[in-house]
Amino acid sequence: MARLRKGTRIWGNPQAREIAERVLIKSDAKLFTIDPPAMFGRSAPIEIEIGAGKGEFIIERAAEFPERDFIAVELSGTITRVLAVRCGRAGIDNLRVARMDARTLVNLMLEESSVSAFHIYFPDPWPKERHVKHRLFTPTLAANLYRTLEAGAIAYVATDVRDYAAEIFPMMELAGFIRAAEAVPGAVRTGFARKYVAAGKPIFSAAFRKPL
Ligand SMILES: C[S@@+](CC[C@H](N)C(=O)[O-])C[C@H]1O[C@@H](n2cnc3c(N)ncnc32)[C@H](O)[C@@H]1O
Repeated sequence: MARLRKGTRIWGNPQAREIAERVLIKSDAKLFTIDPPAMFGRSAPIEIEIGAGKGEFIIERAAEFPERDFIAVELSGTITRVLAVRCGRAGIDNLRVARMDARTLVNLMLEESSVSAFHIYFPDPWPKERHVKHRLFTPTLAANLYRTLEAGAIAYVATDVRDYAAEIFPMMELAGFIRAAEAVPGAVRTGFARKYVAAGKPIFSAAFRKPL
């Protein structure tokens, strides 16, 4: 609390603020953007899977749509290694793997209206209050999914946790998305989806469209 108060006090001092702004890199500066056309050597629609796991879905999807480019984002180093080997073995040119926290990518690094689809399947729900900081979905993430999607494009979401769906689906609508009557491709095709479908577990899925 004391640190917070100090931060507020110092930022309220116009002289201190003027000095700080001479050195502070703005969060919308180009320094923090990624450049998919440079990454793929062409300009094509970009689809991003957040928390791609072992890549069962994104590998199939990238093979199905060679005219689009795909980025699989995964936080865990161990899982990323498996993911990258599998993506590499698939031998497709339109798929890249990034080991990083997807919140950094979406909230800070992607340009406005630059993404053609997000796929977010079975994000860890972190139900305990003390783990809340690990949860992927927050109003900030929802707002940045909205900011970075092209108009008319879709964020596809699926979860096996009813309470998490009840929390994140309204959050997406509050961010400006409209529920679309579209099939959610990963809801039955990711590694986790296949396990849950085989076990007869219910899956809660929705497609959220950014209005035109
Ligand atoms: C329950 S698994 C689901 C994997 C895959 N989507 C599937 O359906 O088979 C959730 C995955 O999200 C990854 N993950 C969790 N938080 C993340 C974050 N902030 N950024 C990127 N990946 C994340 C985890 O490491 C894990 O691989």
